[in-house]
Amino acid sequence: MQTQTYWRPVAFHQVELPWMEQYPALVARLRALSLLEIEQLASKQTALLDFFAAEIPEAAELASLSDLPRFEYKPLAKVAPRFYAGMPGRKWQQISTFAACCADSQLPIVEWCAGKSYLGFYLQHLDNINVTALEWDADLVHQANTRAQNGGINLHSHQVNVLHSDVSLYIHEEQHVVALHACGELHERLLKLCVEKKVQQLHLAPCCYHKRQHEQYRPLSQQAVEHNLILNKAELHTAVMETVTAGATVQRQRKRLQIMRLGFDCLQRDINDNGQFLDLPSLPVKWARASFSEFCLHCANLKNVSVPNGTDWHYYETLGEQRFKQVSALDLMRFLFRRPLEVWLALDRALLLQEQGYNVQIGTFCSNHITPRNILLKARLS
Ligand SMILES: C[S@@+](CC[C@H](N)C(=O)[O-])C[C@H]1O[C@@H](n2cnc3c(N)ncnc32)[C@H](O)[C@@H]1O
Repeated sequence: MQTQTYWRPVAFHQVELPWMEQYPALVARLRALSLLEIEQLASKQTALLDFFAAEIPEAAELASLSDLPRFEYKPLAKVAPRFYAGMPGRKWQQISTFAACCADSQLPIVEWCAGKSYLGFYLQHLDNINVTALEWDADLVHQANTRAQNGGINLHSHQVNVLHSDVSLYIHEEQHVVALHACGELHERLLKLCVEKKVQQLHLAPCCYHKRQHEQYRPLSQQAVEHNLILNKAELHTAVMETVTAGATVQRQRKRLQIMRLGFDCLQRDINDNGQFLDLPSLPVKWARASFSEFCLHCANLKNVSVPNGTDWHYYETLGEQRFKQVSALDLMRFLFRRPLEVWLALDRALLLQEQGYNVQIGTFCSNHITPRNILLKARLS
């Protein structure tokens, strides 16, 4: 609450941020950074803390408060490569470390928002226990069931929308529910259902807190409600902005789209003459290949903005590039608070469970190079 003037404003939406007037020398230092230096600071929290140490000493205190213990676990026996054949990137490391933190339960397992149920297959193998997987995507459900049938494995995937009331048919008291990287309202729903059904055991690694229908986040636990910290979706998004660096092509596409969005924002501000940011929906990545004028005309059409004939596209594209550098530099302030916000949200979930009679532990299940979404909640009904 004390530092909210630093982490609430989003540079993409506002040309001037409230803290800029207070720290002119800091703003000058930020503006002098090259794009490469900005990227390096954005990806290294310790360097970021050093950069802001003189002006924002509270950030270091919040960072140390956000330092969670790593869960200890015994390394699991090696498995045949068929377990991780076809798994993308670091997925196998995420699954094996997550599983190592939750193996040894004798309760039947439910895997929530299971995808291809990689985690479920591994836990089934380790504990030799019946696994029920719940997943919305019919193709992923089919792939999991085919693999289970071909291998004679005791795992059944069901095509279920976990936000629908029918899902409660699958959740019972004598169960161990696991959820690896279930997004915002998907894991919020799980928490409520576990509490309602008094589910015995839960292992949850939350993800993408901002992916939810409602704009305003009201804390889940009574203790957090009493502190009256209400977050909007942009602020929830800040919590998960620490990411493993994407591949070069993806980075280039993201940068191009952001430059065009910012260029369009400069254009629409001039046309509408109201100094207001205009929120655009997320656009398919193919738009990164469009020309700037095509992109702007598409956005103008979506937002009913009438673009005058003879618009100087080059001028607005250059403004977009300049704004991109400025936004990237100013956003470093918000990035200082990514992990504290993420830990605060995870603690809110832990407190909700604790208030409902669970024994809860919170820690990390893997290093943040494997995934920055490495927070794990372990809960068992006392
Ligand atoms: C981030 S992925 C995680 C998948 C898996 N747990 C893993 O870690 O590999 C989230 C999964 O939730 C599924 N999902 C999204 N909305 C859903 C819904 N309403 N009901 C059930 N599953 C959903 C997606 O299809 C996707 O497979």
